[in-house]
Amino acid sequence: MQEDVVRRGRLSGERTQGIKQFLSSMDADRSIAGADLLVDIAHLLMLKRQDVIDHDNAVAIMRVLLGMQGTGVPEEAFSDHFEDIHAGIESVLIATAGEEAGGRLHIGRSRNDEVAACIRLHLRDEIIEQLYSLVKLRSVLLACAEQHRESYMPGFTHFQHAQPTTLAHHLLAYEQAFSRDFDRLNGAYARVNRSPLGAAAFASTGYRIDRDYTATLLGFDGIIMNTMDAVATRDFALEVLSALSIMMVTTSRLCEELVLWSSSFTGFISLSDPFCSTSSIMPQKKNPDTAEIMRAKTGSVAGAYTAALIITKGLPMSYNRDLQELTPHLWRGTRDAIMSLQLLSGMLSGARFDTNRMKSEAGRGMATATDVADFLVREYNLPFRTAHSIVGRAVKNGTLDKTTLDDAAREITGTTLSERGLTEEQVITALSVEVSVASRDHPGGPAPSATAEAIALARERLNMDHSSTESKKLLVSHAIETMLAEAGRLAQ
Ligand code: ARG
Repeated sequence: MQEDVVRRGRLSGERTQGIKQFLSSMDADRSIAGADLLVDIAHLLMLKRQDVIDHDNAVAIMRVLLGMQGTGVPEEAFSDHFEDIHAGIESVLIATAGEEAGGRLHIGRSRNDEVAACIRLHLRDEIIEQLYSLVKLRSVLLACAEQHRESYMPGFTHFQHAQPTTLAHHLLAYEQAFSRDFDRLNGAYARVNRSPLGAAAFASTGYRIDRDYTATLLGFDGIIMNTMDAVATRDFALEVLSALSIMMVTTSRLCEELVLWSSSFTGFISLSDPFCSTSSIMPQKKNPDTAEIMRAKTGSVAGAYTAALIITKGLPMSYNRDLQELTPHLWRGTRDAIMSLQLLSGMLSGARFDTNRMKSEAGRGMATATDVADFLVREYNLPFRTAHSIVGRAVKNGTLDKTTLDDAAREITGTTLSERGLTEEQVITALSVEVSVASRDHPGGPAPSATAEAIALARERLNMDHSSTESKKLLVSHAIETMLAEAGRLAQ
């Protein structure tokens, strides 16, 4: 077993397994081990360029680092003998390259700026993956909306039949919410992708380092200026977890509807078998378990956010070990959110909507009563409140037709509507689901013409979001490739 080079000078006494496990971040560090090597390589290239480290030592270190980069961080670096992966990799490096060379990598830095840089590097990859999942999900929603511009269904308020709408309109509501989720995450990315390197413990360092150079090598968009803030803050992680929690709330509301819609009470949707489970006792059952787990993951992600918030509240400047406890929540939150969205796209694209069943519910519960009141306003110049009362009274008396409307009008205004010329056909037209929906053709409304426009606009926005995600990914991978090429030249 390698000696822990960080502890050996100051501390002695074998730690019990309990202490080691309690203090170790090793499990969560598996997520940042790859990023740690990149941070090491950038730091070494910078030390070499600044002549803080000589050529031969730099070459010796770089060869070991690139070796690990090629084969993966060796398992011995993950031993719980080390406090964390930073101590693990440095100890393996020193054991391999010798202390004369390997013992120089940590010049001018601390694990505090190192770990913050690693978290930011891994987090930006997670964000980019999430942005892609959001783009994919939105394109599934738009494709589905396109097919269902004339699929009528009931719209609800208070989960009571309210007014007719279309499935396209309903799906577009979610697409719009997910596009705001995209914007929030995209905004957070700008604050994640900045380099804390050079902050060292918090007060920077007396060596002639170049903070901008390490930032450029790693594809960061710049540095975090104040070095105390650079190691102390995890607000970037809070922001991402907050955006993801809000996104999961959108997801959960959609999942709730998928659960409701797949119940035989509603019968609006049939989810494909791979996303469902059956019962160990009731052989007829097909349960929407994926949607249920996804609804529950909202609690897990929001829990990760809450934990992270509370871990950071009340911490004095600058680095405190408490911060280590936040990181596993971050990775759990991002993974749960990414997996949820990826599965949601698949679940939606494989779902079958029973449009006949939906349509049969669209007018139920006198869902077009508003249209009848609106007709009375337009046709007889009644105040809306009077028309609302007449229609409400007719509904109260049992149903909506010419006779009940006449009776209601007599009770409320003293005269019937027939006296003013109301015909049976007019009532039937006003009650029609198709007529009701078609009349709501304002921007963002349910009319098929309005949803066609909304889909076209949403597609434009989606294309822009897709290309901005592509350019983020390209910028990042180009920077890393360029840095590794530079590292390769040094190691030759
Ligand atoms: N494992 C630590 C973390 O995740 C790395 C930084 C340790 N720094 C320290 N001063 N003990 O935060």
